Amino acid sequence: MKRILSLVFAAVLSLSAMAASDGNKAGTFEAGKGTFLLNGEPFVVKAAELHYPRIPREYWQHRLKSVKALGMNTVCLYVFWNYHERQEGVFTWEGQADVAEFCRQAQAEGLWVIVRPGPYVCAEWEMGGLPWWLLKKDDIRLREDDPYFLERVRIFEEEVGKQLKDLTIQNGGPIIMVQVENEYGSYGENKPYVSQIRDIVRASGFDKVQLFQCDWASNFERNGLDDLTWTMNFGTGANIDEQFRRLKQLRPDSPLMCSEYWSGWFDKWGARHETRPAEAMCAGIDEMLSKGISFSLYMTHGGTSFGRWAGANSPGFAPDVTSYDYDAPINERGETTPKYFQLRDVMAKYHKGKLPKVPAMPAKVVGFDEVTLTEYAPLDRAIGDQIHVSEQPVNMEKLDMGWGTMIYSCELPALPEGGELTNYEPRDFAVVYIDGERIGTVDRVKGENSLKLPAVKKGAKMVIVVEAMGRINFGRAINDRKGWVGKAEITARDGKMKAVYTPMEWQNMTIADDYEVAVNAFKSTKKIDAGAGKALCSRGEGYYRGTFRVKKVGDTYLDVSTWSKGQVWINGVAIGRYWNIGPQQTLYVPGCWLKKGDNEIIVMDVLGPEAAKVKGVVEHELNRLGGSTLTRTDRCPDMSKATKVVDTQLKAGNGWQTLKFDGTVTGQYIAIEMLDVHNAADNRAAIAEIYMQDASGNRISREPWKGVWASSEDVIGGNNSIEKTFDLQESTYWRSEATKQFPHTIIIDLGKSQQLTAIELLPRAEAGAPEAVKTVRVRVF
Ligand code: GLA
Repeated sequence: MKRILSLVFAAVLSLSAMAASDGNKAGTFEAGKGTFLLNGEPFVVKAAELHYPRIPREYWQHRLKSVKALGMNTVCLYVFWNYHERQEGVFTWEGQADVAEFCRQAQAEGLWVIVRPGPYVCAEWEMGGLPWWLLKKDDIRLREDDPYFLERVRIFEEEVGKQLKDLTIQNGGPIIMVQVENEYGSYGENKPYVSQIRDIVRASGFDKVQLFQCDWASNFERNGLDDLTWTMNFGTGANIDEQFRRLKQLRPDSPLMCSEYWSGWFDKWGARHETRPAEAMCAGIDEMLSKGISFSLYMTHGGTSFGRWAGANSPGFAPDVTSYDYDAPINERGETTPKYFQLRDVMAKYHKGKLPKVPAMPAKVVGFDEVTLTEYAPLDRAIGDQIHVSEQPVNMEKLDMGWGTMIYSCELPALPEGGELTNYEPRDFAVVYIDGERIGTVDRVKGENSLKLPAVKKGAKMVIVVEAMGRINFGRAINDRKGWVGKAEITARDGKMKAVYTPMEWQNMTIADDYEVAVNAFKSTKKIDAGAGKALCSRGEGYYRGTFRVKKVGDTYLDVSTWSKGQVWINGVAIGRYWNIGPQQTLYVPGCWLKKGDNEIIVMDVLGPEAAKVKGVVEHELNRLGGSTLTRTDRCPDMSKATKVVDTQLKAGNGWQTLKFDGTVTGQYIAIEMLDVHNAADNRAAIAEIYMQDASGNRISREPWKGVWASSEDVIGGNNSIEKTFDLQESTYWRSEATKQFPHTIIIDLGKSQQLTAIELLPRAEAGAPEAVKTVRVRVF
């Protein structure tokens, strides 16, 4: 009671300090004229985005206290559909999945809550939060008016309602706003669909609470519904006035809110750890608060995509690392960083009274001594009971498995002069064996789609182990079925002739990525003949188990640097994926999942480790690359036959610019040559996004695009490769290196020859469009 009274007193003292816990009294929250209104009074939302599955439940309270001490008055969270409904119709809302409890804990800390129940959430989360089992339906149209999809959405949102509707402000709870869909503008244009989602959300018990939509300044008009509040998403450094310009024109009275202000960025395997400067992040918050603009800081604390939950970005296939540190003010382990304190100083300026004390960490970081994992079981010990025989390899979803590894085997035709596995798209990482010998790997991340095969006799056995990573969570490629999609095709050479074979009998085997499956592998005697009587473990691929001793319980970082590629369970909890290409080389292990004395560890490695050893270290390594996933030609391709389609000067400033060609030009490659930039003080050039238009003036799909060559790209100082110009993210960009002189050229492969009529270019989104290109020449070939 005393606590409640003192909070009520604080609320009387200042509006900005108004807190979410004045008992269970019903209240109101709505979009008023130029401002949000909380119980009828103007209110600026200062929200911290936190994701309950990415924080061990034992630490929820600590993180909530930490954001409160930062001066935030709200937390913003997604509800992750696939976390709650892992099998169709079976819902989990307990333990780590108890989102209602997370909201109640937020309320107890005096924080309001914004809920974003999807159904799609993006968030660098497996399939953007959609459940894998939707993909069992071959022709499913995700995020569209597909009757089955919408029916499942309705069932899910009703379940969300059962958990959370009593926690809306109108019912005395902390939930002040609920989001409808998520950034639909970067997926398509479909108001009828978005309206249906709005109606489903409303009918699930959120009929009185304020609803809103979030999108980008460049596309929010596509799907903005008349009766919802519109908010913008943009990142550190963005030109804030520019971001709200169009919204203000359309709705002069709308309260302004940046519903995702990106504090940092996510990391993908094979590229540098992403960071964003604290100064720029704080300047943006300062500017927004000085103008009374509401915001949610995405992420204020990112945490970890434990186990299988990290997603993958697209175009291309760019799986995300396990850490979701995000360069956020509160780091992956929950520690306050210098960025936190810099931000806290800014927040304090807009906070009446003293900010609460920053809480102490719940656990120290401890190491543990190196141990060798001596128990070993080859991969095939873990295969499921059914071996499915089919004419063509089938995908994992068809075999009713959501996550894990597939093993496919077939007999080869005679290949007297060798051959090639062609048109092959592994989902996602394939290790190929013939007669028990490892022939090579096919890596979807690198865009590989073939593998040379040696000369073999008829009947040689080919076994392909395909490890699935997270499903794509962004763009049109979210229907990311795993294992093997498409037809199996082997191209044989015979003298000058080529023959294409389609092996017509396949064995399909599943290895689910469950702890129980891993444990059973050590007891099992199952085995497949990998050919020539050999087993499937030529280089130590498989499961390893051991015990490490913890003297004093605390958080630790698991050093996995002697391992190749796979995942880890500790005491039965899925910790996450690792891959020696980096940049992440250690895995965060929360102390609350460890115990004093012996702890069990199981590692599953699809390539086999260099040494089967682990140790606990006290420093996190998020930025050491062990290999690159960039595929570039060594030299600039021959452009002597290229057609010059643009030779002009771009306008200065932010925003998209479209350059029309004189007529239609056909080609598969575009080369963009940049001769100088607008601001003479800039010694680099940058481009945020590129689109190409077809003969009808429509944007062509960027899904098959690949970066081919760059005269300069900064992948050392940051992560500014060519791919950033078609990653669907306006806040990321290609950038030349500081040391390289103009001109700069980047070349992109469009995937196939196309008719082209225009190019659209976007400079960096920051105020003044830094490093904006002035003179540009574009060639098509
Ligand atoms: C978008 C999405 C978020 C997240 C961020 C990038 O804004 O809405 O879920 O994916 O991008 O981190």
